[in-house]
Amino acid sequence: MQDNRNTAFGWILFAGIIALGSSYLSSKVFHADSPESPEQPGYFIDAPEEGAGAESGPTIAQALAAGSAEAGEKVFAKCTACHTINQGGAAGIGPNLYGIMGKPIGKHAAGFAYSSALAEKGGVWDYDAMNEWLKSPRGFAAGTKMSFAGLGSIEDRANVTLYMLANGGGPPLPEPEVEEAAVEGEIDGAGEGPGPAEGAEASAVEAAGAMGDEQPVVDQSPVTEADGSQ
Ligand code: HEC
Repeated sequence: MQDNRNTAFGWILFAGIIALGSSYLSSKVFHADSPESPEQPGYFIDAPEEGAGAESGPTIAQALAAGSAEAGEKVFAKCTACHTINQGGAAGIGPNLYGIMGKPIGKHAAGFAYSSALAEKGGVWDYDAMNEWLKSPRGFAAGTKMSFAGLGSIEDRANVTLYMLANGGGPPLPEPEVEEAAVEGEIDGAGEGPGPAEGAEASAVEAAGAMGDEQPVVDQSPVTEADGSQ
């Protein structure tokens, strides 16, 4: 009887050990109580960000601000089949482009036979017009003689525009968008606002502390010396 009871207790103990061990193991395997479980369970598809990214591509003003005439010179290799850009350069299939920025659209090169589509477009080659033109010449002036598909990348358009600007000048570059500036300003404001205030407080306190600690010592030391000498 006694032996039997011991055996029974033995088995109960053994079962307990197994139960503890397996619960420990399963928690290891399944991370049941892991703090690193994802905040959003399931697969999160980040679609809105992609949409926003497509929308928030650089504007022409931003691309111009970030671009360079050197990069534009390389892009202009696509244009040299039809255009010269040196001062007084001859017209080819297309008109000479020296100093084109800011000039009336479709009237710049005297003696060049512009299409009426371009000559009657009106306006001047400002940065928006040039961007639209280079994106899609036919979209900008249906019936144009410039048989060029257009430059798909805004960076290419901005850079080649900067290259044209560097050859003969033109109007000042546009300021990058007010919207962006406002957003940046807000962020800067929010960041900077408390910053200097805290800093000022902290340095004022520090200064006061430093003064409080040091000043009396400096003041007292002559007194102490004086006391000592007397
Ligand atoms: C296949 C020939 C061809 C190519 C390539 C070409 N152009 Fe032109 N371009 C023309 C012609 C032709 C015109 C005149 C269009 C008209 O009168 O409708 C023109 C007109 C222009 C004008 C307007 C000039 C004015 O006096 O108003 C600009 C600016 C211009 N091209 C820039 C470019 C740039 C930049 C490139 C290269 C990215 C380029 N073109 C590539 C043929 C070409």
